[in-house]
Amino acid sequence: MNIRERCESLVRELGIADASDILSVEPLTGGVASDIAKVDLGKRTICVKFALPKLKVAADWQAPVHRNAAEYAWLKVAADLLPQSAVRLFGRSEAQHGFAMEFVSGEDVYLWKTSLLEQKPNKGEALLVADMIGRIHQKSSQSGFDTTPFQNRDDFHALRIEPYLSATAKVHSDLSPHLNELEDMLYQSNQVLVHGDVSPKNILMRSGGPVLLDAECATMGDASFDPSFCLNHLVLKAIHLPATREHLLKDVVAFWQAYATHITWEPPTTLESRVCRLLPALMLARVDGKSPVEYLNDAEKDIVRAISKSLLKTPADTISEFANRVSADLKEMNT
Ligand SMILES: Nc1ncnc2c1ncn2[C@@H]1O[C@H](COP(=O)(O)OP(=O)(O)O)[C@@H](O)[C@H]1O
Ligand SMILES: [Mg+2]
Repeated sequence: MNIRERCESLVRELGIADASDILSVEPLTGGVASDIAKVDLGKRTICVKFALPKLKVAADWQAPVHRNAAEYAWLKVAADLLPQSAVRLFGRSEAQHGFAMEFVSGEDVYLWKTSLLEQKPNKGEALLVADMIGRIHQKSSQSGFDTTPFQNRDDFHALRIEPYLSATAKVHSDLSPHLNELEDMLYQSNQVLVHGDVSPKNILMRSGGPVLLDAECATMGDASFDPSFCLNHLVLKAIHLPATREHLLKDVVAFWQAYATHITWEPPTTLESRVCRLLPALMLARVDGKSPVEYLNDAEKDIVRAISKSLLKTPADTISEFANRVSADLKEMNT
């Protein structure tokens, strides 16, 4: 079935519309894990997403299609807890590994990644994202939270631990003890609901708040992962964009402060020290793992390697110390 036929069958199955109501199907780009499309139904426009059995990037990076169920379940948790900051959901088909949601659009809507790379004025996006993640983590750490849809540590291993950490450990054997320890830490934990892909490319900003999409990696796991994953994007952009560097490093600290107000399931300093260890590992992984960042040139990649290795071998104790060390190292390297 092509994407149009799958859309027809999905809207019919979910009772959203008749196949004949579909005026157009426009595939959306940016993703690597799914077929995703904007569907014009005349009276309204929706977005549909189907999981692909094989990602469009690396040949040996596969993940089962049932991750579409985990994604829908994560989006539902977000919609129930923070309706302003989530997409409205219109149903999911188990048979098609696909679901329908609101198409987020409007004059005020922009992708956070675009505003970061175009160095648009900072509107406090990092704080808003940190607050949202903190609320979801906190909610999911409480007794009574239904963890059943999120027993997905093996998918998380295939999508995150292996391509980021294990792959990097193969390239940097001197760091493999550090990286292996982090792999175990992430695999063994089930303390909070981890989104797993808190990247600016998956966050649409609108006036009500940030809308976090793309929850295919959702699992119960270690709380350090989401803040580290998101902070990594800010740190790499701080290395890449000297003009906004200081603002981005300030945002790193502000992000942590906003997130930390929600930590009730363990001492905040304990979690902070795990983030200080995982973050440099993820930095290195975006250079030498299976999902390399596209905007760094060779010189910048070497800078990321040098800074992240030093922070892995001698970790910072706090995020603020982490940001200071990145800033000082960059000055020392004259970049
Ligand atoms: N509900 C939506 N409304 C508007 N745009 C969307 C919506 N869902 C996804 N997109 C756009 O499509 C892109 C890819 O979607 P995403 O869920 O991230 O797929 P993938 O898993 O393939 O990365 C997003 O970066 C975003 O720009
Ligand atoms: Mg995406």
